[in-house]
Amino acid sequence: MKAVVLISGRGSNMEALLKAGLPVEFACVISNRPDAQGLAVAAGLGVATAVVDHKGHDGRAAFDAALAAEIDRHAPDLVILAGFMRVLTTDFVRRYADRMINIHPALLPAFPGLHTHARALAAGVRVHGCTVHFVTPEVDVGPIIVQAVVPVLADDDEASLAARVLAQEHRIFPLAVRWFAEGRLHVGADARVRVDGVA
Ligand code: GRF
Repeated sequence: MKAVVLISGRGSNMEALLKAGLPVEFACVISNRPDAQGLAVAAGLGVATAVVDHKGHDGRAAFDAALAAEIDRHAPDLVILAGFMRVLTTDFVRRYADRMINIHPALLPAFPGLHTHARALAAGVRVHGCTVHFVTPEVDVGPIIVQAVVPVLADDDEASLAARVLAQEHRIFPLAVRWFAEGRLHVGADARVRVDGVA
């Protein structure tokens, strides 16, 4: 199975995927930012990298077309959004329907969007976490593949909570990619995901 990983920054989730020993050929890591730290990490692990700079394109549709062209060069079975911070057009999302997944640092459907850890603290929730889901045109709404829960502790600040969640992101993202690679994920008509071999 061949995958392409899209990043925008640090790339720690990407790194966790590349180092997880998955039955996956990582054809390319693509960043929309030329200064993304994760590009050097990927190159250091021997994975090809590319930049499709959103600044070089006039509008979302033009950027998404350039991004799709770069992705399609590799003919991936799976497109992985690993801290990719651009909202994608409906056309782009439809092109990769059922073969594009994202990690979100909250327990969806709670806290879609940005600043999830600060919002979780402000809401006073006792548990928080992360979600891997299929990408659909509406942001952070697609069928949920796997989630991990962490406690919110009394003395947590945004950084401590983010670190606790991130450790779980690095655990469940490789799990979801493995399930996809093994052909074990099935999205029902009700948009619920069934995982073969998982109750
Ligand atoms: C992660 O928390 C991810 O869930 C969110 O952005 C962060 C990216 O971190 N979308 P990294 O680039 O994977 O280190």
